[in-house]
Amino acid sequence: MKNRIFLYLAFGALLVVFISCTTKKNEISASEKIISEKIDSLLQLMNLEEKIGQLAQVNPEYNNTEILLEMIRKGKIGSVINAGDADFRKRLQQVAVKESRLGIPLIFGRDVIHGYRTVFPIPLAQSCSWNPELVKKAAQIAAFEASSDGIHWTFSPMLDIARDPRWGRIAESNGEDPYLGSQMAIAMVNGYQGDKLNNPHALAACAKHYVGYGAAEGGRDYNTTLIPEPELRNIYLPPFKAAVEAKVATVMSAFNDLNGIPATANEFTLRQILRTEWAFDGFVVSDWTSISELINHGYAADERDAALKAIQAGIDMEMVSTCYQDHLKELIQNGVINENLVNEAVRNILRIKFRKGLFDNPYTEKPDSNVFLMPAHLETAKELAIQSTVLLKNDNNILPLSENINKVALIGPLADAPLDQLGMWTPDGRPEEAVTPLTAIRQLIGNQRVIYAAGLEKSRSTDKSRFNNAIMAARQADACIMFIGEEQILSGEAHSRAFLNLPGAQEELVSAIAQTGKPLIIIIMAGRPLIFDKIENKAKAILYAWHGGTMAGPAIADLLFGKAIPSGKLSVSFPRTEGQIPVYYNHRNTGRPPSKENLGIPTGTPLDPVNYSSNYLDLDFTPAYPFGYGLSYTSFEYSPISLSKDTMSKNDTLIVKVTIRNTGKYAGTEVVQLYIRDLVGSITRPVKELKAFRRIALEPGQSKEIVFTLTQSDFAFYGKNMTYSAEPGQFMIWSGNSSDDKDLSGAIFYLTE
Ligand code: GLC
Repeated sequence: MKNRIFLYLAFGALLVVFISCTTKKNEISASEKIISEKIDSLLQLMNLEEKIGQLAQVNPEYNNTEILLEMIRKGKIGSVINAGDADFRKRLQQVAVKESRLGIPLIFGRDVIHGYRTVFPIPLAQSCSWNPELVKKAAQIAAFEASSDGIHWTFSPMLDIARDPRWGRIAESNGEDPYLGSQMAIAMVNGYQGDKLNNPHALAACAKHYVGYGAAEGGRDYNTTLIPEPELRNIYLPPFKAAVEAKVATVMSAFNDLNGIPATANEFTLRQILRTEWAFDGFVVSDWTSISELINHGYAADERDAALKAIQAGIDMEMVSTCYQDHLKELIQNGVINENLVNEAVRNILRIKFRKGLFDNPYTEKPDSNVFLMPAHLETAKELAIQSTVLLKNDNNILPLSENINKVALIGPLADAPLDQLGMWTPDGRPEEAVTPLTAIRQLIGNQRVIYAAGLEKSRSTDKSRFNNAIMAARQADACIMFIGEEQILSGEAHSRAFLNLPGAQEELVSAIAQTGKPLIIIIMAGRPLIFDKIENKAKAILYAWHGGTMAGPAIADLLFGKAIPSGKLSVSFPRTEGQIPVYYNHRNTGRPPSKENLGIPTGTPLDPVNYSSNYLDLDFTPAYPFGYGLSYTSFEYSPISLSKDTMSKNDTLIVKVTIRNTGKYAGTEVVQLYIRDLVGSITRPVKELKAFRRIALEPGQSKEIVFTLTQSDFAFYGKNMTYSAEPGQFMIWSGNSSDDKDLSGAIFYLTE
């Protein structure tokens, strides 16, 4: 009897779930149907000038306000970027809604890249947290603060796969891996947009820069990219696909020339992949003047030609340049293009404006100042900065600093540099609201235990006149903590560097301090992987703190003094030298894979002993620090990996188990990573591919069994002839705490038809 009651209850529960899902689905389709009808009726009322106006995004800094207001009044503007403040935005919106013929509201866009007034660590740092939930929470906070200030739309997340630290925008990326990048994409889109885009505190998100921008030759920003279609589909597109599947509202086309056709006029990526294959139904905005730049590319003869090629390729809205405004009407009137191309773009834009609720709620009142930098926001910023920081070295477990370290000398140009710690793309962050390491450490341990000497004014400074002060400070202390790296201005868009060493006289400063013989801990704050081999062995411990945002100081202080334990893992490989770039973990094996033992030519002997493999004569081919690497103050032990079977058919699932134990004396969090290798494919395959990860918190002595469930979709890729499938054959599978073989336990299994 009891079983029957249970069955009835279970069936009832399932029925409720089914009905609610169906209801929700029906509700969504009903609201979409209403939106579609509203768009149709509005479109019928719009004249050609008003339609073309919706495709224009203007920057007020480039327009006289009265002219701007008159253009809005005439329905010639659909969106405004960087529009001053909340009051100014409201003024523009009132003109659009009350004084234009059809009252179509503007959508206000802004680069809210890693926070608004509460600035979070740069995205590259955030991806080293391997914590999508926390990254999502940060995006939610950014959306709350920015939307409170009248912003509707952020040009984030940036989803470019980045393998080249010379490229300044690696700082904005989620690193080199498509799987981790996809998880971060989903987290940020969901964080910004929430469950309902028309929630006043939601931001329409923007997946950018579509696509391949991070593959810029030479790491020089805006440079040419040549990406074969398998690589495009298997490496560069997945994070964008994940964002589209997460219902991202908009996509931004990129600056780069992609295989000879600029991304901003590339019908294959913009229509075939984005619209036809992925059924994306939001709108596409060009990046800043990237439509007019088609002329520089040598792809358009003039702005009229640029407008023609961009609208044909599927760019809906033009950011800042005016090719559409100046030429679409004539192109239609002369029958060069059909008005339906413009109608389609207008539909896409109006769909997002309706979904965002702008027609119902076009205005945002000026917010109370207390909506910014709330304690909970700052706490999240601090926690994310802690989890984004990567412990690269900790000899003799010098960290966390023990109580007998009474006096510390804080030295370096970044110990008290609030603007720099915010990082690039922080137009609304305020340095005066940032808490620096100097302030935080003084607050934590007391002024009397801290001696501060910058040693250098800025990271690029070469004036050594302050070295003596720093040396004297070091001599008075029990330990020295140095804050070095790169200023904010050396990172971000159009800030690519050919040399990745520590700028200025920082290396000399480290050497000078090391000569005092005091224990040396180094904190590196940067927007990219740097090359610091010349000082690496002078430090007992190295924490890579990136540009950690408003709360970088308290985060570093807590890590140094043991109030927090590092758990960050690198989302990008660190090269040993620039000559090694690109170096990334998911490379192919080649026909003559490099061997670790082969390094250099013994002097006095002919070249012959050099074995003919893909090695350098003068450098270890492995990265300085590998993808997935990061230490803790505690230690973890992994059991050998176990598989539920050694042969799996395509409709099967493979259960992978590994037990991890905290063998140290501190509670800590480990990121357990799962990698595969497809040993034989219809095209050559990477030697490793990340397919899953799990953040696991363990008390000292505690152990936990981690279970991963894999299906054939985890093994699928675009192979020969662009067939997407999991190909039968032999696979390796590993689990461990970095992509380095020495940190992995592996097993072989076979996938059958
Ligand atoms: C910039 C960037 C893009 C940004 C846009 C608006 O040039 O490439 O990422 O969102 O212009 O500022």
